[in-house]
Amino acid sequence: MWKVIGLFALFGLALAKHENYEGHALYEIPVKTTDQAELVNYLTVTLDLDVWSHALPGRAGVILVPKEKKALLQNELSAAGVEFKIQTDNIKELLDLEDQLLAEASKRSNVSRLNSLPFDQIYTYHQVDVFLDQLAEAYPDRVTLVNAGKSFEGRDIKYIKISTTNFEDTSKPIVFMESLLHAREWITLPATLYAIHKLVIDVTEQDLVQDVDWIILPIANPDGYVHTHVESRFWRKNRNTNSGIACAGVDLNRNFDINWSQASSNFACSDTFHGSAPFSEPETQITRDIFKQYGDRIQLFLDIHSFGSMILYGYGTGVLPENGLFLHLVGIRMASAIDAVKMSWNPDYIVGNVALVLYQASGSAGDYGTSVGVPFSYTYELPGYRFGLGGFGFLVDPDFIEQAGFETWEGIKEGARYVRENYRK
Ligand SMILES: *[C@@H]1O[C@H](CO)[C@@H](O)[C@H](O)[C@H]1NC(C)=O
Ligand SMILES: *[C@@H]1O[C@H](CO)[C@@H](O)[C@H](O)[C@H]1NC(C)=O
Ligand SMILES: [Zn+2]
Repeated sequence: MWKVIGLFALFGLALAKHENYEGHALYEIPVKTTDQAELVNYLTVTLDLDVWSHALPGRAGVILVPKEKKALLQNELSAAGVEFKIQTDNIKELLDLEDQLLAEASKRSNVSRLNSLPFDQIYTYHQVDVFLDQLAEAYPDRVTLVNAGKSFEGRDIKYIKISTTNFEDTSKPIVFMESLLHAREWITLPATLYAIHKLVIDVTEQDLVQDVDWIILPIANPDGYVHTHVESRFWRKNRNTNSGIACAGVDLNRNFDINWSQASSNFACSDTFHGSAPFSEPETQITRDIFKQYGDRIQLFLDIHSFGSMILYGYGTGVLPENGLFLHLVGIRMASAIDAVKMSWNPDYIVGNVALVLYQASGSAGDYGTSVGVPFSYTYELPGYRFGLGGFGFLVDPDFIEQAGFETWEGIKEGARYVRENYRK
């Protein structure tokens, strides 16, 4: 009897997958003027819409709109003479397709063998957790696993340290990178896993292993990430429920103690809610403590996000750091290295100050790195790779997972070599 009920429960779950996105449409709004951009951004706030890409003149807004709000949005846009295109009328169909493509890819390959972590899959929190444990066990001379603390819901947040000298040689610079601070940006995970692969398992760049120490935190927001797998694929924040379940979550990339709350939302339901105080969240405290512990040896910090093909530096308020020129030049070097091997249909990377390229945003991890003295602190926005016939932002086609890892590694290498050559000179 219990078996039967269990089966029904499972079946019910399978049927319900992505139901919450039934009829949600993805709008592309290529605004022509600042006024139009302001209108679009105003509408996204008042209608509480999910912004995938912020509208700017020259850069289309991409916005996910629930069924019941489509007419309202379209009326407002039409009344103001703003053109729009519906990229897909029902995103649930694409979510089902994403599941299907990833499931097929995972059937084709073997995850079990450590030395052949195939780059055609998006690994779950649990799979990554097991992988990190196994890696540290298999390469004790080079890899140290750190269990840094627990997320809001109590999941372990683990990072690895990669060093040929057990982090004791202080003449080496440290490169620190993290991914998945924003839960739905799945394609960022293969970027950090690929770097781990190239630094530990398939080493072809001896200099980067010998002369640089690495700290890599693949899942900076485990609760949000699990939530995207089991509940809401486009969840961005963590899963703090102090403001009630209806408006759960803090935008971790607005929660750092740098210009906190100056350009972020005070509204718990917003996707850019900055939390109740700077570092109110256990997840951001862990990143903060890494900066504190390793101090000025951290020369390069990369917070990997998606999407938009950008390398951004601070401050999110528009104020430039003292070494702004060097930040820009090293950013360009990394971007050029990626552009040289990118998919031809993806745009070239844009490099610049986040407020100048995109919009004002305060309390980000990248800005925090800059404020505590990391000379080269960046936010990468990986491209929105092709999905089916179009570019659908956060959706992942297994055909481009390895490419995402490979091309991003070209940028990381360039940045790491720059700091290796210039540290303590
Ligand atoms: C997976 O493992 C099986 C059995 O070891 C092997 O026959 C098959 O070729 C492997 N597939 C891949 C994609 O490596
Ligand atoms: C943000 O913080 C930085 C570092 O403390 C400071 O230089 C800058 O002036 C602040 N920006 C604003 C708009 O207050
Ligand atoms: Zn992000």
